[in-house]
Amino acid sequence: MELNGNLKIAVQRSGRLSERSLDLLRNMGLEFETYQNRLFTRCRNLPIDILFIRDDDIPEYVQDSVADLGIVGRNVLDECGAKVQQLSSLDFGYCSLAIAVPEQGDITSLDTLNGKRIATSYPNILGKFLSEKDIKAEMIILQGCVEIAPALQVADAICDLVSTGSTLRTNRLKELETVSQSQAVLIGSPTSSEKKKDLIKRLLLRVEGVQEAKAFKYIMFNLPKKKLDDAKALVPGCDSPTVMPLADLEMIAVHSVVEEERFWEVVEKIKECGGSGILVSPIEKFIR
Ligand code: PRP
Ligand code: ZN
Repeated sequence: MELNGNLKIAVQRSGRLSERSLDLLRNMGLEFETYQNRLFTRCRNLPIDILFIRDDDIPEYVQDSVADLGIVGRNVLDECGAKVQQLSSLDFGYCSLAIAVPEQGDITSLDTLNGKRIATSYPNILGKFLSEKDIKAEMIILQGCVEIAPALQVADAICDLVSTGSTLRTNRLKELETVSQSQAVLIGSPTSSEKKKDLIKRLLLRVEGVQEAKAFKYIMFNLPKKKLDDAKALVPGCDSPTVMPLADLEMIAVHSVVEEERFWEVVEKIKECGGSGILVSPIEKFIR
């Protein structure tokens, strides 16, 4: 890839975070093409290149300013301790780092891990956990395919990421203990140029816009006019709800936004106030 002044964003090449990372970039208005086995792609509408690399290498790429921004699991970041800025939690890629053991085996509690071998790609996090719990186990450090270590008798247990749990199930392993929780985070290089900093600022506003949009729904409903005060309290919106007259002069139409997590509670209360014709739609972007 030729060196140019473009802002560089590193995302996982193939794995749990790849698809959602690209979805996020597209929702932020970046236009680009991609296909399997690509190494990088250039945005059509902004001076941005997207680099596809192994997730474990992303923190170092960003620390060394090979990439200006990166999307990576917080666990990977914690493990390598790279000096980068954590800019935003991204609300996807939720998983836990867990110790897992063969379904049929003699390891049934943390205590029984004493004297056993645990295969992992996360020796720093696991090492700290074991010493906190005062467990004396041997760590077998592997870069990938940790889940097959017990079957190959290279280890008695593993400590790896669990997301859906299918990898454990396929390998006849079961979770014994959660070590830490993780989700995807956006990280930034501490040394990006001033020119790039402007663009990064714009992108951060867009990330926020995408996040906010997910957290809210647009809601419209009809309400008896005398219940307007109740509606204002229920759906205060950004500044205040939009209220419009209806042909039936006793009724009004109310438009507002509502937090996803309060959604059902609000709908039930609207009904109690005599609300009807409740319409809800997703919000694509939401800038307050
Ligand atoms: C992790 C982990 C497992 C898988 C677990 O891999 O190593 O292979 O995810 O997910 P599941 O519970 O949904 O089956 P990751 O995507 O981080 O890729 P990597 O191992 O190549 O780094
Ligand atoms: Zn990885």
